[in-house]
Amino acid sequence: MVFEQIRSGGCLSYILGCQETCAGAVVDPALEQIDRYLALLAERGLRARYVIETHTHADHFSAARELGRQLGARIVAHRRSAAPFVDLRVDDGELLIVGQLRLRVMHTPGHTDDSVCLVLPDRVLTGDALLIGGTGRTDLPTGNPEQLHASLFDRLLRLDDATLVFPAHDYKNRSSSTIGAEKANNPRLQKSDREAFVALMRGLDMAMPDHLTEALRTNRTGGKTVKQLIGDAAREVPFMGMDEVRRRIESGAEEIVPLDVRERDAFEAGHIRGARHIPRGQLELRVDKEFPDPTARILAYCQFGMISTLAAATLRTMGYTRAVALDGGVDAWTKAGYPLERSPAQAGRNPSQ
Ligand SMILES: [Fe+2]
Repeated sequence: MVFEQIRSGGCLSYILGCQETCAGAVVDPALEQIDRYLALLAERGLRARYVIETHTHADHFSAARELGRQLGARIVAHRRSAAPFVDLRVDDGELLIVGQLRLRVMHTPGHTDDSVCLVLPDRVLTGDALLIGGTGRTDLPTGNPEQLHASLFDRLLRLDDATLVFPAHDYKNRSSSTIGAEKANNPRLQKSDREAFVALMRGLDMAMPDHLTEALRTNRTGGKTVKQLIGDAAREVPFMGMDEVRRRIESGAEEIVPLDVRERDAFEAGHIRGARHIPRGQLELRVDKEFPDPTARILAYCQFGMISTLAAATLRTMGYTRAVALDGGVDAWTKAGYPLERSPAQAGRNPSQ
């Protein structure tokens, strides 16, 4: 069996495969590691049949949809998963066949209602149901401590003590454990009494994960993360460095027109010399009037270089074929000691106007 654990911060994902048939599967892929999964599958000579989610993740961005598309693999999750892009919905006791391998699905709700573990003869991928020295939390959407208690004590911990445990998270650089070791040492498993376990879980009072809403929005729907949107836009536009922009503006030889896409107060407080102003939110509706020439050499910029990337991509989509984005933003421009101009409107403007 091919078995690879891929670490991405505290998130663990897995590639497993059958050497005889070259069939493979990816479990719990993280968005920022897509290229790594593709490279590893190729290196190990595997064709992925399945991309499997052990549950709907709330703390990182899943690559399941994107990887499934790129690999032509079926996306697998428990039947309760809210994600509309799941191709194959599975339930407790079912098997996924990966060449000679059989992955047995064990429904282990509690961390989420769609949590599953994948059981192989010598090991179990536990998702966030059972972690090394811990368990998944039960205070996020669809979590339930009573269910987690049943999943752990009535199901997972009944596996053979020698069974290797490979979780979906570990924050201390550990890669695996065993059922026996967890039974003996895991502080959350020392109270097998249901009431005590539930009280323990309810009393944890953990901070909400970063990007909780964004992670649930994208993982439950297959929508894009903000980083993906900006990454997609960045592929569609060329950028121009601050030195180059400043040199061109100061030489006056280049017809470059800076376009400030921030809000009005930011524009008026200080902008690049000669800049026009259209806030990003009004861009599509006002741009024809401001730039009648679609070959105008527009340089979009904003405060940090992200909104301007989206704006420049929009301009290119609309036919402004020479639109570029500033590499950086006013923030970097100011830090570099480059000059800004204040709007004349700001200098003599009556605040009520
Ligand atoms: Fe989780």
